[in-house]
Amino acid sequence: MPIKAVDIQKIYKVGGSEVRALDNVSLEICDGEYVTVVGTSGSGKSTLMNIIGCLDLPTSGSCFLDGENLCALSDRALSEIRSRKIGFIFQSFNLISGLTALENVELPLAYRKIPKSKRREIALSALESVKLSDRALHRPMELSGGQQQRVAIARAIAASPEIILADEPCGNLDSRSGAEILDILEELNRKGKTVVMITHNEQTAKQAQRLIRISDGKIV
Ligand SMILES: Nc1ncnc2c1ncn2[C@@H]1O[C@H](COP(=O)(O)OP(=O)(O)OP(=O)(O)O)[C@@H](O)[C@H]1O
Ligand SMILES: [Mg+2]
Repeated sequence: MPIKAVDIQKIYKVGGSEVRALDNVSLEICDGEYVTVVGTSGSGKSTLMNIIGCLDLPTSGSCFLDGENLCALSDRALSEIRSRKIGFIFQSFNLISGLTALENVELPLAYRKIPKSKRREIALSALESVKLSDRALHRPMELSGGQQQRVAIARAIAASPEIILADEPCGNLDSRSGAEILDILEELNRKGKTVVMITHNEQTAKQAQRLIRISDGKIV
């Protein structure tokens, strides 16, 4: 069981008031599953993804990754798990504008202390797998939105994570580029990756293998 959440609550305190972003959420995601999380804006999807992705901790409850209780770990241990096990894809691509596609993909490999020559080899092969070998030296500005998202996917998979977390990966794309991104995610899942994909698009949700619907911080 790579991902397990038990009675997670996340309460944000802003000024004097509280926002209950997640309210007793429990879920289990198995090895190799493709799970789609759907919900309206503000329902708690990104909050859930941030907790699963070790970017944030719940206010109460527990979250396990490969049996390890994330709430019991230090920040350092959490970032270690994050860089080893998880690949992130975001709606806004989050590429570094001053770096080429290749350098963007190499970056997480540098964090994992992979030697330079090896980094280049892995990054080129990741770019090839998203059909962008011919754009390796382009900067993000010199790429279309769909291409930028494919660079982000290459970056997410370069370090061979077991889990891919994609938060609205098609949110900034036209429907055709969006469909290409979904195809790539499906292909990664067929190759064995666990994929958690967030969307607010009901059409996309309809095609889900397994759907988790979240509303007002609760799974419904
Ligand atoms: N850092 C924060 N501080 C305070 N409140 C927050 C914070 N992050 C999120 N929230 C609140 O928590 C709730 C859930 O937010 P979240 O970002 O998880 O929603 P979402 O489902 O991802 O929405 P969207 O589809 O718009 O991305 C919202 O009401 C939001 O205003
Ligand atoms: Mg969100």
